[in-house]
Amino acid sequence: MDSLKKTSVPSVRATKVCVVGAGYVGLTAAVCLAELGHSVVCVESNPQRLAALLRGEVPIHEPGIDELMNRHAGTERLSFTDDVEVAMDDVQVVLLCVGTPPRPDGEPDLRQLGRAAAGVVSAARGDVLLIVKSTVPPGSCEALELLAAGHAREGVNVVVASNPEFLREGQAVWDFFNPDRVVVGIDDPQMQDLVTGLYPAQWPLVLCDRRSAELVKYAANTFLAVKISFANEVAQLCEALGADSQKVLAGVGLDARIGGAFLSPGPGFGGSCLPKDLGGFIAVAQSVGQSAPLARAAQVVNSEALDSILRKLEVALGSLQGKRITILGLAFKPGTGDVRFSPGLGLGEALAQRGVLVRAHDPVAAPVTTSMELVSDPYQAVVGADALVIMTAWPQYRELDHERLREEMKGHVVLDAVNVVGIDEVAHVDFDVYGVGRGLSTDFAPVLWPPLEWMLDSEPHNAAVSR
Ligand SMILES: NC(=O)c1ccc[n+]([C@@H]2O[C@H](COP(=O)([O-])OP(=O)(O)OC[C@H]3O[C@@H](n4cnc5c(N)ncnc54)[C@H](O)[C@@H]3O)[C@@H](O)[C@H]2O)c1
Repeated sequence: MDSLKKTSVPSVRATKVCVVGAGYVGLTAAVCLAELGHSVVCVESNPQRLAALLRGEVPIHEPGIDELMNRHAGTERLSFTDDVEVAMDDVQVVLLCVGTPPRPDGEPDLRQLGRAAAGVVSAARGDVLLIVKSTVPPGSCEALELLAAGHAREGVNVVVASNPEFLREGQAVWDFFNPDRVVVGIDDPQMQDLVTGLYPAQWPLVLCDRRSAELVKYAANTFLAVKISFANEVAQLCEALGADSQKVLAGVGLDARIGGAFLSPGPGFGGSCLPKDLGGFIAVAQSVGQSAPLARAAQVVNSEALDSILRKLEVALGSLQGKRITILGLAFKPGTGDVRFSPGLGLGEALAQRGVLVRAHDPVAAPVTTSMELVSDPYQAVVGADALVIMTAWPQYRELDHERLREEMKGHVVLDAVNVVGIDEVAHVDFDVYGVGRGLSTDFAPVLWPPLEWMLDSEPHNAAVSR
């Protein structure tokens, strides 16, 4: 556990806190706040999830949570319930960590939040401070304050603050204890210390109004989405030009103004946050008459990433009907079992629709799906496969025995959508490796060679200059 903290965590003034929702955000907040010294009661409405928590089990894959659960669950520092009345006994501070999934049109569905707030406020016998950790569009805290006030008993005041969460799945506990920033949006100065006091005073704090705090989260995720889509656009260009996107983007990212993080091409971003928050950002812009062209472009590029994988498979295999294709990696990124908006799962479903017999392996994720057969061993998963597609950059996929894979497979096509297979490492194996933004240079035979034309003084030739 201590490896998840940079230094020993400074103490805070212990507060009784109710956390609503024990998902990635809520459960992480609950165990970490308990570790900081607060007294936390966590409300979870999903019966299976609650039953697991009451048995002391961690229902999500998140390093470090089990250790904190072992230390605090069942003590006065941490308990779980589905009974809001019990949870709200003598509690003023409530962290709302419920889901805010996208509606089909991209607008955020905030009904879980409305219901959760109504539930806790109805149960409160004294003033309540609702702290929204869920990701919400600007204006939500104000709306929630109005809505919640309608459920409060007489004489009970409700204040809503924004405290968006920035954790990354797979390293959520580390991120909690080592935040780049704690953002707090609050309009009531008297309640400010109740929010900021939850965290050690040394942690970097951005204190602002509620709408700004809400927008920090949306804007941060939109920027990350734009960065990934930019990397994918550069990778497409690299494929067409015979350049190596890994070298190009490494060279770009070393510029301190740009930075290398999130500048890796791949199968497009997935997960429960980036696609949803990008769509939410666009919906919010639209609601105030703006079109958010950059954010929209990031969406378009992202949706093309899966098409590009399908096209490459068709180039390599011809018709996909009746082919056997194995997918390695269903989690939307390594380090998590989360398959919400997962590119691997999306590819499996798209292939199954094209008549492909799909097998898949993931070290952690085990989605319920009829589109593919899940296999627990990667080598068994490729037996008889015409092609192998790697969709999640799990570290174990970098260590695969390529000769053994080739022996088990029928075909020799490897589509490495996350660039984990070293081209040199497989040079001796009878594989055709297609990466993203690399690996196509031998097929590169451009008809056009515009730079030469652009150097000539004369009018451009009608006929393109061939290489
Ligand atoms: N997952 C991430 O990496 C991440 C990171 C930052 C922010 N966020 C945001 O945080 C929010 C939560 O995300 P998550 O991934 O933890 O979601 P999640 O779906 O994993 O967890 C939400 C939990 O809330 C429970 N719940 C819903 N309504 C409830 C109620 N009325 N009472 C009690 N429990 C209730 C659900 O059963 C579920 O267990 C979202 O707005 C998300 O966008 C997520």
